[in-house]
Amino acid sequence: MTIKFFDVETGKEINKKTEEVKSEEKEEELKEEHYMLKEILEQPETIKKATEQDEQKLLETAMEILRAKNVIFTACGTARYAAIVGRYLFSKIAKKFSEVIMAHEFQYFIDSVDKDTLIIAVSQSGETADVLEGVKKAKENGAKIVAVTNVENSSLDRISDQTFFLNCGPEIAVASTKAFTGQLAVLYLLAFATVNKIQEVKIELKKVSEKVEEIISQNGGLLKELAEKLKDHQDFYFIARGIDFAIAAEGAIKLKEISYAHAEGMPAGELKHGTLSLIEEGIPIVAICPKDYTYEETLNNVQEAKSRGGFIIGVSDEKNEIFDSWLKIPKIEEIFYPLLTVIPLQLLAYYLAVARGNNPDKPRNLAKSVTVK
Ligand code: AGP
Repeated sequence: MTIKFFDVETGKEINKKTEEVKSEEKEEELKEEHYMLKEILEQPETIKKATEQDEQKLLETAMEILRAKNVIFTACGTARYAAIVGRYLFSKIAKKFSEVIMAHEFQYFIDSVDKDTLIIAVSQSGETADVLEGVKKAKENGAKIVAVTNVENSSLDRISDQTFFLNCGPEIAVASTKAFTGQLAVLYLLAFATVNKIQEVKIELKKVSEKVEEIISQNGGLLKELAEKLKDHQDFYFIARGIDFAIAAEGAIKLKEISYAHAEGMPAGELKHGTLSLIEEGIPIVAICPKDYTYEETLNNVQEAKSRGGFIIGVSDEKNEIFDSWLKIPKIEEIFYPLLTVIPLQLLAYYLAVARGNNPDKPRNLAKSVTVK
């Protein structure tokens, strides 16, 4: 079939350039019960795939990050939580301050974006309207655009100066899982590229992918049981500090979007500034507290919730008597914990949605890519 394009005003035919696009968007045969479960289980492999990046490109972008006056991440939802991990990494590894702005709020900061600003747009689909709008405006102001996306030839890919692909294959379930860990892997590479440690970080990320496998094979049963026990609860709180805060926020969004229960993720230190008044007997509190630089202080905040009757679910490599339920993760170099702690939270959200009789692949009222403003 031949398709012709015409200019609406002049009626003249427009000669369009044709380009073949790789379309992997077909739904593969499903062995698991849902795409979301399939995509969670794929992560040991997809994390490795995300590390397959051109080293020269990584080094060039690392230089841009260090040189830029302002580095701003823009993204929505889960992609924004990946960006928050990136922000902590840039500060800790590259010693570079950056900001994360929700894409739909970005336009209100556009006056401070100029040619010395580097924008890092994170988007699985590369088609999120809010992200694209902000990026277009930033480009008009002369900013450089780096995209972290899963989709080749997406609008975001085409508009950006540099693109890093996640290489994780199509993500079908509305709830993002393997794209999130892929985004983290790319951001770890960029952060470590600023200190010339690409090979070192690749070795660590390979170890991480093996540990993800371990979590998946060891925690499935326990998480199913826990979901059954918690399925009638309507409020959940996820708390953590530092880099782990992003995972608390991600755990909460995952749970609420597919189980339709209310969930909030927040920095643990914020609890006593308001939310603590909501904690009463039996309220589930998920504490993300690996044995890293946040451990002791997060546990102090967990104690505040525990003494009000909260039911504490600890995600940690270290057992603690304060936990009513312990989701064990393996030990790893501390900066990489976010890639491990998120896995039991994805599985918890999945099993909870199933226990509540929901279809986790197609949550009500939500679309896979939000192409409207
Ligand atoms: C994730 O589970 C959500 N479905 C949602 O928050 C998503 O991450 C957000 O809409 C951004 O999508 P994008 O990554 O395709 O831009």
